[in-house]
Amino acid sequence: MPADPIALFLEVRARAEKTEPWEAQACVLATADARGRPSARCVLVKEVDAEGFWFYTNQESRKARELEENPWGALCFHWTTERVQFRIEGRVDRAPGSRSDAYFASRPRISQLGAWASAQSRPVGSRDELLLRVEEVEARYEGRAVPRPPHWGGYRVLPFSIEYWVEGEHRLHDRVLYEALDGGGWGITRLCP
Ligand SMILES: Cc1cc2nc3c(=O)[nH]c(=O)nc-3n(C[C@H](O)[C@H](O)[C@H](O)COP(=O)(O)O)c2cc1C
Repeated sequence: MPADPIALFLEVRARAEKTEPWEAQACVLATADARGRPSARCVLVKEVDAEGFWFYTNQESRKARELEENPWGALCFHWTTERVQFRIEGRVDRAPGSRSDAYFASRPRISQLGAWASAQSRPVGSRDELLLRVEEVEARYEGRAVPRPPHWGGYRVLPFSIEYWVEGEHRLHDRVLYEALDGGGWGITRLCP
């Protein structure tokens, strides 16, 4: 097995980007509240590097509230065309403001306006009410750049473990668990399927 699971992840994802009909950046993010009650939803992991797996969201959303209470999370990627699953578990920290600014600036303007208009995870009376909020924000920023809302930004999952799963014949799948070592590098253990 390769020594570096991040490089392995990037290699598999690059293949999946060519073959997936849907979004190769998508995965399931699981969080849990202070009492340990779990919740899961899809997010797009926009960047992966030695510092971790980065996603962007509303920092007052349900996931954000749970991460405030309990800063541990898990990501699960599944690319059907590759027959591969990656499970990533680790500590979740907020991204530095400069990183969130840079990603926000790269988004389409309508997504930037949506970030202001949507109080993610909170009730809204109707779709019309939401669209009205988008119109209000559009008018507010007409003719100028949309700044990043203070409640919107990135998070980074810093993995302590990464499991690589590949479908095998007769359900004898391959599972390889990478665990971060204190001094750097990764311990590698094969698991039964
Ligand atoms: C494929 C897919 C990708 C998504 N990507 C994101 C994302 O990157 N960021 C985000 O805030 N929500 C994303 N969503 C919406 C979330 O799944 C979720 O509805 C939203 O973040 C609110 O979750 P929460 O109430 O648990 O905080 C995505 C949904 C799907 C289906």
